[in-house]
Amino acid sequence: MRKLIIAISALFSLSLSAAEAGLTFPNDDMPKLTGDKLIIAQQNGAQIYMNNCMGCHALSFQRYKRTATDLKIPEDVMLDNLIFTGGKIGDLMTNNMNKKAAANWFGAAPPDLSLIARSRGNHWLYNYLRGFYQDESRPYGVNNGVFKDVGMPHVLELMQGIQAKTEQVKGLENDIEYAKADIANARKQIEDGNDVEAARKVLSAAEKLVHEKEAELVKLSKEGKYFEIVQEGNLNPEEFDHAMTDLVYFLDYVGEPIKQERKRLGVWVLLFILGFGVLAYFLKKEYWKDIH
Ligand code: HEC
Repeated sequence: MRKLIIAISALFSLSLSAAEAGLTFPNDDMPKLTGDKLIIAQQNGAQIYMNNCMGCHALSFQRYKRTATDLKIPEDVMLDNLIFTGGKIGDLMTNNMNKKAAANWFGAAPPDLSLIARSRGNHWLYNYLRGFYQDESRPYGVNNGVFKDVGMPHVLELMQGIQAKTEQVKGLENDIEYAKADIANARKQIEDGNDVEAARKVLSAAEKLVHEKEAELVKLSKEGKYFEIVQEGNLNPEEFDHAMTDLVYFLDYVGEPIKQERKRLGVWVLLFILGFGVLAYFLKKEYWKDIH
């Protein structure tokens, strides 16, 4: 029993420190949409996807026809406006990307995104798509605040423009980097048994500093002051966030096409169980009434 408790608490502290180490920006919640608003968002998301992503990322578990039906897009509109590969309405949503060549160009082949909403989750996707920022040290001049050193270029640059970390953010991140180096040195010193007292002091001061500066970063991000636009795109930040919400809801649909139907059915199933429960209760009463 004790071993179990120790194991569980170790797991718990592990997940806590993982969460702490994993500060990523942006880290905003995606608006919740339901009903008609959701369908309209998914339709718009499909259009954004076909125009900007399909060239590199196939959705090969999905057919155009099924997508058109589920998202209430007329088939001729789908054919004329959303299928760029010369494919037919009944085809799988694949592309002609050569995986080997692509891996050469980008350092990694663009993965199929059929299930990406299931594996990464909507929150991650929403922030990843809004997370490209200027970084001249990278091959395409951009990095990503959620997926460090990602091989994907900033394909939505025309829409979003280019954002960069603010000076304040860069300063804070520098401080954190230095403090982390201090922490590593102090830890090593303690391990080697070299001037342990002093090293402990440095360690706790540096850890406190990292905590404080990270809290400041989180605050800046919440206030929308983590990034600033350095080159404007066709959309303003609010419009871009809307567009990314739509795009993620489309990927969410692709990840589980039956989701809406499942939720609708679920309500009926629960109602049935409830109704049947009541019936069973009265039946039981009827059966037992002569025995007591
Ligand atoms: C020019 C080709 C290209 C285009 C266009 C493109 N991507 Fe990518 N994308 C990549 C590459 C390459 C990677 C793999 C990066 C890596 O692993 O370093 C990637 C990775 C991703 C990932 C992360 C996958 C993972 O490993 O979890 C997501 C999500 C993604 N892309 C979404 C999109 C969306 C949405 C669009 C359309 C707005 C898009 N991409 C357009 C090339 C592209």
